[in-house]
Amino acid sequence: MTTVLDVQRFKDEGRRFAVLTAYDFLSARILDEAGIPILLVGDSLGMVMLGYPTTLPVTLEDMLMHAKAVSRGARQALLVGDMPFMSYQVSVEQAIASAGRFVQEAGMHAVKLEGGGPVIEITRRLTEIGIPVMAHLGLTPQSVHSMGGFKVQGKTEAQAARIMADARALEEAGAFSLVLEGVPSALAASVTAALNIPTIGIGAGPATDAQVLVFHDVFGLTTGKAPKFVKRYANLAEEIGRAAAHYAEDVRTGAFPGREHEYSANGSTPAKEREEVKYGA
Ligand code: KIV
Repeated sequence: MTTVLDVQRFKDEGRRFAVLTAYDFLSARILDEAGIPILLVGDSLGMVMLGYPTTLPVTLEDMLMHAKAVSRGARQALLVGDMPFMSYQVSVEQAIASAGRFVQEAGMHAVKLEGGGPVIEITRRLTEIGIPVMAHLGLTPQSVHSMGGFKVQGKTEAQAARIMADARALEEAGAFSLVLEGVPSALAASVTAALNIPTIGIGAGPATDAQVLVFHDVFGLTTGKAPKFVKRYANLAEEIGRAAAHYAEDVRTGAFPGREHEYSANGSTPAKEREEVKYGA
């Protein structure tokens, strides 16, 4: 199983690695079997799974339900649960209680928190009690309203200096990795060079130690125009749409079910081992 020690070794040995989001049993099992070393149960699920316009409405209970399903599907990957808005901002005690639920109830191995400032102390405390923390700076979607929208961060010298200072402080507080989202490539390169822990980029250029993308973006399950930083590796929405139309047509014309899909009373067809009536095998 991938651990936080492996992740540090990847950085030390200069081995770049991939991270993907996963939100359910099925996606976790597929990505785990494909050898993706870190699966993030991101609060992006609010947008891609639950249809909200931002991640802000996502609750701790929503996250725990999806995290539990992911942990049932994965065997090898390091599993990271994303702490949703208002599950850690109130106090260090609240953050510890929420993070504890991700580990104890949902089988996560680590948690992710957005931001610097007060999150630095929370990171220190969680690390001290044995809950590894993935930090997250740059475009932090839970702050969408104070950023004035989903906008690239760190473009001014002052913003870049703030991100660099927070990155160093989060590493010092014990974070085992740092997500850099929506920042100029040059800033991501400087932060990556300055830190000993791995950086994981999304819309942060090629210099970070790892890359993370959202499941629905990578596999073409979102249908709108993909953001600039996304590379699509499949077009599953189109494929599923075509398959659904084909299925409907087969049902309409009687082409499905065929002989091979039927059960008979005398047991002569189909073969005995295919008689179990069970979904999802
Ligand atoms: O919520 C999420 O999926 C994330 C990643 C995109 C980094 O925070």
